[in-house]
Amino acid sequence: MAKDKTVSAGQAVSTARRLVSEALATRWKLFAISLICMLGVAAFTGALAYSTRLIVNDVFVDENTNKAIWVALLVIGVSIGKSFFQYANSVIAVLFDRSISAHYQKRIFKATIAKNVEQFAGKHGSTQMSQIKILGKACGSSVINLCNKMLTDTLTLIALFGVMLFQDPVMTLVGSTLIPIIFWLVAHLSKRVRAAANAETELTGAFFSLGTEAIDGIKTVKSYQLEGKSIRRFEAAVDKLEERLFGIAKVTSATVPIMELLGGVVIGLFVIYAAWQTVNHGKTPGEFTAFITAFLMAYQPAERISKIWVELQKTLVQAGRMYDLLDEKPTLRTDGTTEIDDSVASVSFRDVSFAYGKKVPALNRVSFEAVAGQRIAIVGRSGAGKSTLIDLIQRFYDPTEGVIEIDGINLREIKEESLRRNIALISQDVFLFDGSIRDNIRDGNVAATDAQIEQAARLAQLGDLIAEAPQGLDSQVGPNGRALSGGQKQRVGIARAFVKNAKIYIFDEATSALDGQTERAVMEALDEALSDATAFFVTHRASTLEHVDKVILLDGGHLVAFDTPQSLLETNPLFGELFEPSQGTKQGNTPVLNGTRS
Ligand SMILES: Nc1ncnc2c1ncn2[C@@H]1O[C@H](COP(=O)(O)OP(=O)(O)OP(=O)(O)O)[C@@H](O)[C@H]1O
Ligand SMILES: [Mg+2]
Repeated sequence: MAKDKTVSAGQAVSTARRLVSEALATRWKLFAISLICMLGVAAFTGALAYSTRLIVNDVFVDENTNKAIWVALLVIGVSIGKSFFQYANSVIAVLFDRSISAHYQKRIFKATIAKNVEQFAGKHGSTQMSQIKILGKACGSSVINLCNKMLTDTLTLIALFGVMLFQDPVMTLVGSTLIPIIFWLVAHLSKRVRAAANAETELTGAFFSLGTEAIDGIKTVKSYQLEGKSIRRFEAAVDKLEERLFGIAKVTSATVPIMELLGGVVIGLFVIYAAWQTVNHGKTPGEFTAFITAFLMAYQPAERISKIWVELQKTLVQAGRMYDLLDEKPTLRTDGTTEIDDSVASVSFRDVSFAYGKKVPALNRVSFEAVAGQRIAIVGRSGAGKSTLIDLIQRFYDPTEGVIEIDGINLREIKEESLRRNIALISQDVFLFDGSIRDNIRDGNVAATDAQIEQAARLAQLGDLIAEAPQGLDSQVGPNGRALSGGQKQRVGIARAFVKNAKIYIFDEATSALDGQTERAVMEALDEALSDATAFFVTHRASTLEHVDKVILLDGGHLVAFDTPQSLLETNPLFGELFEPSQGTKQGNTPVLNGTRS
């Protein structure tokens, strides 16, 4: 998993170009202001270095106290100017950083949510969230490092270089021989950091997913005494991550000391040269002081540039990953334009096959037609392909072969928004958002009035719960509805589906947590309220079959039968096996034989 993937310098450059052009396109005014600040910092730093020449020559060598006051005032003024621009520049840099990080975090989240269901397969939610955080932040720091910190330091270096050149061109050129050495060194370190950067993102993802898994599954962890296993796995993830971070830190920390060493060598050479020049050619001490001050002052920005440059390699690799995520194409074509609004909804499968990956087909040449308004049960052993079938109706996947139609229109031609609006899913494991019961029901239809929400809640048999709760419909459900029981959650999910007023309803074992009486009440309410809708019920319960017109019987991905419950019970051994009379209600096999919808 955490293998080092080498990213070339070329890739880093193209990422940088795209990132900077995107970031500055909408922030160029702010950038212009910060550029003024950067020029201010550079100019005043150069002036400060130059002022040492005045201090030494005019004040100390000439021993002129009058001039000393003017020079002192000049130095103070220059320092004030430098500090002012430095402060303004730092504040703008923070502003830049935060707005860019926030922008990309929002963008990656939006792009993630827009992906198809199948693109989420095998990915842990918390891994993805940690990536969004890290990658977004990396974009902000890349832009800031490139367009602010490094630029400020480069401009400062140019100003100080100017001062040095003005004081002593020969020695400046000698000092310049350091530049190619520094370039080579930085390039070498950069390569190593780029190689390690990808691994860091992945290891941080593992850190979050292992931790979240243990905390979300705390009851299982305790009940099976898996604390030790959870702790060991988490500790291994932390150690691996820390090891990798240490590897990166070792490289970035090397830059500054190496730069200092090189600088020390140059200063040593310069002392010898300066002594010789003063003795033989009569140079003033002020010129040397200004030169050496400029050289020493140039140190800091040069050091910082090389350090930032090496660090930048890491954030650019991460920004490149972010673009990979943003540019990833949806796996399903979603350019259908046909609306299914005004029609009744029949659903037909024609020779539909589907396989996950390249494996054995989960559905094999399945054909049936559900007439609009029909109630259809989907039954079969575990693993028969029931959930797959309803996922295909919702177009979470496209069939590998065959055609699925709603009202005679191929699903691929239907506008995605129209498809989603017309199908309501109620799954066994209802997902609720943290908020009130009312908010969760309203998620079914944002335009629903309070009266409609109350009506839906009553139909879904939530009346008692709401009457008992002190805050009624405004009671909080907790994160993922944890404050409710399984059956209560299912009923909130059903109420949410009721207000949606869809044309097709899909119940994936959606009443499994309800007691028999409540289930019957819900099913009756459904018959009444949604008489026009076509409804599918994935079920293992005989009682549900009372309410259906037809049954899709699946086995090993094949459609075994598409018939009424009565005739299946009479003729089909598999169906008889699945719904033995003893599985029904107290009245033996009556639910299947007598209770069918007319
Ligand atoms: N995401 C997936 N990736 C790979 N294979 C899958 C995936 N989901 C389901 N399968 C396989 O497809 C087949 C059909 O699974 P499906 O979930 O449709 O069964 P099911 O009838 O709903 O079963 P159950 O009653 O247990 O819910 C099974 O063999 C299953 O292992
Ligand atoms: Mg299933």
